[in-house]
Amino acid sequence: MPEKLISASPSAVGQTALPSPAASSWLIRIPEVFAPLAEEIIASLRPMAATRLGNDYVLLKLDGEGDVSQSEAAMFIQWNLPVHHSWPCNPQKMEGFIEKAAQTLLRKFGSLSPQGIFMGQLHPTPPNPYYKSLASNLRGRTLQLFPSMNAKETEDQDGAMDTLFCLIGKEGLFSGLQSPRACNGLYPGGTKYISQDGAETISRAGAKVAEALHYLLMYRPPLAAGSHWVELGASPGGMTSELLARGFRVTAVDRAPLDERLSHYEGLTFAKADVAEFRPKPGTVYDAVLSDLNGSGLESIQHVIRLSKHLKPSGLVIFTLKMPGVETIQETVALFHEVVAKAARAGLSLLARTHLTYNRREFTLFFEKQA
Ligand SMILES: C[S@@+](CC[C@H](N)C(=O)[O-])C[C@H]1O[C@@H](n2cnc3c(N)ncnc32)[C@H](O)[C@@H]1O
Repeated sequence: MPEKLISASPSAVGQTALPSPAASSWLIRIPEVFAPLAEEIIASLRPMAATRLGNDYVLLKLDGEGDVSQSEAAMFIQWNLPVHHSWPCNPQKMEGFIEKAAQTLLRKFGSLSPQGIFMGQLHPTPPNPYYKSLASNLRGRTLQLFPSMNAKETEDQDGAMDTLFCLIGKEGLFSGLQSPRACNGLYPGGTKYISQDGAETISRAGAKVAEALHYLLMYRPPLAAGSHWVELGASPGGMTSELLARGFRVTAVDRAPLDERLSHYEGLTFAKADVAEFRPKPGTVYDAVLSDLNGSGLESIQHVIRLSKHLKPSGLVIFTLKMPGVETIQETVALFHEVVAKAARAGLSLLARTHLTYNRREFTLFFEKQA
């Protein structure tokens, strides 16, 4: 049985226990690392009802004005979807589930011209082969029924155009139409799975930049091979290796050494230094700055700002916002705003912010240098 966190009651909804006729349903995903804050995050959205689905998901009933992106705590929501159609049922026990579900999706969404249809699992970990194949088979049958669409693969999606996303699990089927940007991810649930355990993996941080580059496809075309990155806090080199493997040039800065397996890359320059002492050669122009420095986010953004003088117009910044000593939602939101304001004053405008699947207790911010 799904766990009801809040049900429509006089105390939850104010004066009336009756759901408003304009109530809307939302599926939100709160990363496991923020589980201790989940109840507070949910309460900040003022739901009329909240039901936990799977480990990370919560189904919310909001009043007609509700919009999950408007809350201050929205930055803790990894991914969201307005639920325009739900079928609460146990698919395993429902005869003809795939055909019935596919026909209903066609009836409800067929005339709304989604750019693509993508389906995922409500319980992605541990992977459940039954629901994995159910999601894949339902997608296959639905694609047969819908008119042809532009986005065959997740990467084909236009970040600003509506996609039909569906999540499926033992609680049923939850579907909605929203753009990947508004959902905050190209995949249903937001996760692109990236192996972190390969023999060549230098550090788990590599998955963060791989995921960040994929996430960015919603906002801008990928940087060309040969683009020059300056990377602050590069040791041992997990992120550096991902950048080099994509054909980028990297100037990596850290006071700690890089993994020796990177030494054969021609595109790599390593400055073993405190970042405060690092001075690019006069005339150097970078295409992008990557910062994964540990320590205070306010200090790290100062380093980024100083080096952004060498960033070309419209150049990209990927910044891990670390939060040592920051515990509460309010402190986190305040830190985020302070960092963004400092960056804006220096000509770096915020493009997006997210909690990537491979982020720990930290966020990833994306800036662009104003032209
Ligand atoms: C989270 S680790 C980076 C992991 C790395 N990005 C990877 O992909 O493997 C943070 C790094 O920041 C470096 N760091 C923190 N402050 C620094 C500073 N002021 N100057 C140089 N390096 C610094 C640390 O030495 C540490 O290696």
